[in-house]
Amino acid sequence: MAKKIIIGNWKMNPVDVKEAEVIAGKIVAGSDSLKKISIVVCPPFQYLERVGPIAKKKVVLGAQDCFFGGKGPYTGEVSPEMIKSMGVKYVIIGHSERRALGESDELINKKVGGALSVGLKVILCVGERSRDDSGEFLNFIKSQISQGLDKIKKSRLKNLLVAYEPIWAIGKDALHPATVQDVLEISIFIKKVLVDLFGREEGLKVPIVYGGSVDVNNCREFLTDGQADGLLVGRESLNPENFIKILKTANEL
Ligand code: 13P
Repeated sequence: MAKKIIIGNWKMNPVDVKEAEVIAGKIVAGSDSLKKISIVVCPPFQYLERVGPIAKKKVVLGAQDCFFGGKGPYTGEVSPEMIKSMGVKYVIIGHSERRALGESDELINKKVGGALSVGLKVILCVGERSRDDSGEFLNFIKSQISQGLDKIKKSRLKNLLVAYEPIWAIGKDALHPATVQDVLEISIFIKKVLVDLFGREEGLKVPIVYGGSVDVNNCREFLTDGQADGLLVGRESLNPENFIKILKTANEL
């Protein structure tokens, strides 16, 4: 069985680099003996250089976004090559909080292609704003995947993960976390979409992770009954004590 992957998305936190170093240091110290899982921490760009050396081997560095191009006149953007040169191995693309700022599926598709082309592992986020009885939200998720992965070569899929993050389950204003049944159903649905796009062999290999109000109490069931290949953790990844508990729970499975 592949290792479960636990990814911490720090979003635009913490407020200064000193605190980022403290959080990273605690996470690294608490996770040293956890051999059965993969751990990724995604700090803001500005902290990558300082968190990188703390993360060392066990905790791998991720970024929360990147641009698609190599270099040039793109004020304020950060290229895949740049983050790679800082030691980043994973990059989150298409998070709903970026989509809410105006990122289109077309832009996300370019970013996915750019990141994969330099060998980064891409965590492509998808998820509906709300649910409806007629199942229209499934078409929405399907279209996010097919547009996000348009023209992506099958051979690149080994570096892809898909994160199911329903918007209604994210953040302190979330309605509630997804249920285990939701996670299981949508993982199967996403696998089916990937198989239709890329074929059975490649499609089934893509890990599907869940994110949205994951905490110490609910993390186990998403990974067991929900059959998630991993978790994308927001708020609780900034609380080293709780994040380590989540990591330990995943490591015990
Ligand atoms: P929360 O865990 O804070 O709900 O955030 C989830 C998320 O958006 C992770 O990318």
